[in-house]
Order: sequence, then structure tokens, then C-alpha cells
Amino acid sequence: MNTAPFFTPVQVGLQEVETLLHAQAEDAHPDLCSALEHLLTSGGKRIRPAVCLLTGQMLAAPHDKLLTLAASVEMLHTATLVHDDLIDGALLRRGMPTLNAHWSPAATILTGDYMFARAAKLAAESDNLPLMKLFADTLATIVNGELSQLFAARGVISRENYSKRIYAKTASLFEMTTRAAAMISPADEAVVESMRQYGYALGMAFQIVDDILDFTGAQEMVGKPVGSDLLQGLVTLPAIYYAESHPYDPDVLCLTGGCYTEHERMERLLHRARAHGTIGTIHPGKRCDHEIHEGSASFYPKGAGIIEKRAGRSGAAGVGRPDRVHRKPEYLA
Ligand code: IPE
Ligand code: IPE
Ligand code: MG
Ligand code: MG
Repeated sequence: MNTAPFFTPVQVGLQEVETLLHAQAEDAHPDLCSALEHLLTSGGKRIRPAVCLLTGQMLAAPHDKLLTLAASVEMLHTATLVHDDLIDGALLRRGMPTLNAHWSPAATILTGDYMFARAAKLAAESDNLPLMKLFADTLATIVNGELSQLFAARGVISRENYSKRIYAKTASLFEMTTRAAAMISPADEAVVESMRQYGYALGMAFQIVDDILDFTGAQEMVGKPVGSDLLQGLVTLPAIYYAESHPYDPDVLCLTGGCYTEHERMERLLHRARAHGTIGTIHPGKRCDHEIHEGSASFYPKGAGIIEKRAGRSGAAGVGRPDRVHRKPEYLA
């Protein structure tokens, strides 16, 4: 898969977005400033700002507003990753150690908060109140989704539950991106709605591919821990396919009973789902699977020579480990 044509029409705009992103670190505490620099130079694919610019350019959105929107979307995305890696206990992202691999949870949370604030400020520069509302609603959807996943999604084998989860954590932001780019353009309501639907579909597909790579990808290629979903008890589409075709597998049967906390069982299930070939059925034909791999390899040029700093699959503070599944405090039960 050649990704170049996708980015080519927005290459100049993406450079300007980079400048805007780096400007957000100015005036911050020196440690915060270097953390932001580390995050911004760590090699994200910039798929969301690219989609934002492509949509806005197609609809003749004002250039300056489009740039700040694209920067806002990427800043919001990066902030969610900072918090997500802490929540998941992931020590590797984009082939580099995560912030939580080095820093305390407190410093990591505050860095994420700072980025959320800068993302909101960039969005506000659009001078568009409905867009600000959309930004706030999207952030609420993402946070609500993360919390639901933390408390109620482990061991659940359900396509409906899966769709809701991937909408909240990924597709909602893609949906916001294309919809907001249309909102700041001289486009009518029907076009805004079409763009919203496009972003939704793209985001859902993007997360499904990401979930497939969690089973089929190599850590050196995807730049983040693989196999982590199932090992944390999160049943994604590849595992759902396996469970549907092997309903009497003892490890499948016990999933809903809470055995997702048993590392050995989850390792076994992961191995079986990988080996069984059900993953290939999610996409039609092997060629497509190959293209996904090739495409992600070109997305992650840092692939080889990654610093392997993970202390096992669990996180720095043990967060995200299945044996430390997050539970509601008693006063909330
Ligand atoms: C990672 O998103 C989180 C998901 C929603 C799967 P990306 O794969 O776009 O992450 P970067 O920004 O390119 O690292
Ligand atoms: C990331 O979700 C999505 C958000 C940050 C909201 P995941 O935990 O599934 O993604 P990766 O695998 O860490 O990128
Ligand atoms: Mg994660
Ligand atoms: Mg997560």
C-alpha cells in the first residue's frame, strides 16, 4: 500500500500544523516543554490532521482556521494517548518509551491535561461556537468510553459493545475532524452530514485495523505493545471472530466469568486466535492483510532498532494489568 498520494495534497499544510503544534509548548514549565517536544517529535502518523486538511481543502475552508482545527485535533489525539498509555500501563509508543515509562503518574496526567487545554484553545481560535460544543462533546465521549472500558468492558464478547467502544475511543474523533472541517467551510448542512458520516466510517475502519494489528503485527513494526488488548481482558473484533467460531473453547467460555485476569489463559487464547486464521476472514483475501502490514510499516519508519524498555507487558506502575483490573471504589458501587 502506498500512502504517499494520500498525504501529498496536504504536505505543505501539515508542515504549518507542525509549527502550530510546537508553538503550544512555549511558556510551559521547562520539563513540560521537553515532554511536549518529545511527544511532538516522536513520529505520529498525523492521520487526523491530514484528513482534516483534505476535507477542508476540498470544501474551500479558510486556510488559517483549517490549520488551527487540524492542530487542535492532533493535540487532542496526543493528549488522549498520554493518558491512555498511563491507563493501559503501556511503556512503548511510536517506538519510543512513553511518558509514563519515565515519569510519575501525576506528571503524566498533568502533561495530558495541559495538552487538552491547548487543544481547546486551538479549537476556540475557530471562533465557531457549535464547533467548540462539538469539541467538548467529543472529549466527553472519549473519556466516557475510556471509563466504560475500564469498569465494564473486560471479558465482554459482544459486537455491539465492541462497536460502542471503538466509536467512543477512535471514531468519534475522526467524525469530529471531518464534520468540523466541513462546519468551518462554506458547505451546506447536507455536506456537513456527509462528511460526518465519512469520518465515522473511516474512524471505525481505522480502529478495526489497529485491533487486527494488535494480533498480527510485530511490536517493531507498530511501535507499541502488541497482544495487549486480550491480555488486559479486552475482547476486540479478531477475538470476537474466534469466540464466535469456537464457542466451546474453555478459555472462551470462562471469559465472561472473569478469567480474563488469568494471564496464562489469555496468552493461550491470543495464540489460538492468531493461529486459527479467523483474522484473515475479517478482510477479504490475504492480499489485503499484506497491504495493511506494508502500510503500517511505512507509517512507522522507526520500526527497526526500537528501544525495548518494557518490563514485561504490564506497565510502569502496574496499571492496566489484568490482575489489577480497575474497580469502582466502594462508595460508588
Ligand atoms: C493510536 O492512533 C490510537 C488509536 C486510536 C488506534 P494512531 O495510530 O493514529 O497513533 P499515532 O498518532 O500515529 O501514533
Ligand atoms: C487508544 O485506545 C484510544 C484513545 C487514546 C482514546 P487503545 O488503548 O486501544 O490504543 P493503543 O493500542 O494504545 O494505541
Ligand atoms: Mg492503549
Ligand atoms: Mg486503551
